[in-house]
Amino acid sequence: MHRHRIASGARCAQSFVMSSVIWFAITPGVLLFGQSDPGPRPGPPAAGRPLPGLTPTELATFQAGLQRFTRVDTVSTGLGPRFNSNSCVSCHSQPIAGGSSPSLHSPQNPQVNPQIAVATLAGATNTIPSFVQPDGPVVAVRFVNNSDGTPDGGVHDLFVISGRTDAGTCNIIQPDFAGALAANNLILRIPTPLFGAGLMEAIPDGAILANQTANAAQKAALGISGTPIEAPTMAPSRASDGKPRTRACWCSQVRRTTWRSA
Ligand code: HEC
Repeated sequence: MHRHRIASGARCAQSFVMSSVIWFAITPGVLLFGQSDPGPRPGPPAAGRPLPGLTPTELATFQAGLQRFTRVDTVSTGLGPRFNSNSCVSCHSQPIAGGSSPSLHSPQNPQVNPQIAVATLAGATNTIPSFVQPDGPVVAVRFVNNSDGTPDGGVHDLFVISGRTDAGTCNIIQPDFAGALAANNLILRIPTPLFGAGLMEAIPDGAILANQTANAAQKAALGISGTPIEAPTMAPSRASDGKPRTRACWCSQVRRTTWRSA
């Protein structure tokens, strides 16, 4: 079955999760004064909480989204048959739930890459690919090309549920990551932080369309143009014309079938 999803990530099959989560917006604008990277900022996280001033319903929705985000899945709750990890927060946790990849070097919450443990959790017998390291970032893998040379670009989940105590007779096998690495056919991606993604989800489709047509003369003079991306989605469209439109980037472009397809 070919299911797509709007505005979400390597585990973004659950549209309700992100559209129901209102993450703190973060403000970019730090100037670079030197050439040395100070690394992750120490101190308490300044993101990941609900916006101030939410209604009780909005706050409850945020909490429900956060609960779903931190839930650890098993086969009965939707893990597999292929997967990259068993919880959103296992990959999006630096410096707090909704963030980027966990790291051993985190000032707030140092962690071994959770993909190491999840590979053999509950009896699973996965081979851990060489590019998944205990002190490295969480990764999601795409292949450049299919084996017949045609373009691929899609995510190939690292692990399978085979061998897990809850997997029944499932004996699906992992893709050949060593071969793909040797063939230089891998694209590795690390988790983007999701803070503020709820605010992007809250932009009505009508506003996107109105922005497209606004100030047409000035935009034409400056050569500015764009097309709202439409993507098949599991969620009902909120647009008056019934077309689902995406707001974020990568997740909209690939199949997201694995998280809920067991
Ligand atoms: C195995 C690690 C992993 C897990 C588990 C995971 N993600 Fe992600 N997520 C990623 C990676 C890697 C990216 C970046 C994808 C890319 O660039 O191709 C990403 C990107 C995203 C994005 C896109 C952000 C943007 O700006 O485009 C969203 C939204 C997202 N994830 C939500 C979720 C949700 C919700 C869950 C749980 C249902 C989840 N993720 C679980 C690794 C993970």
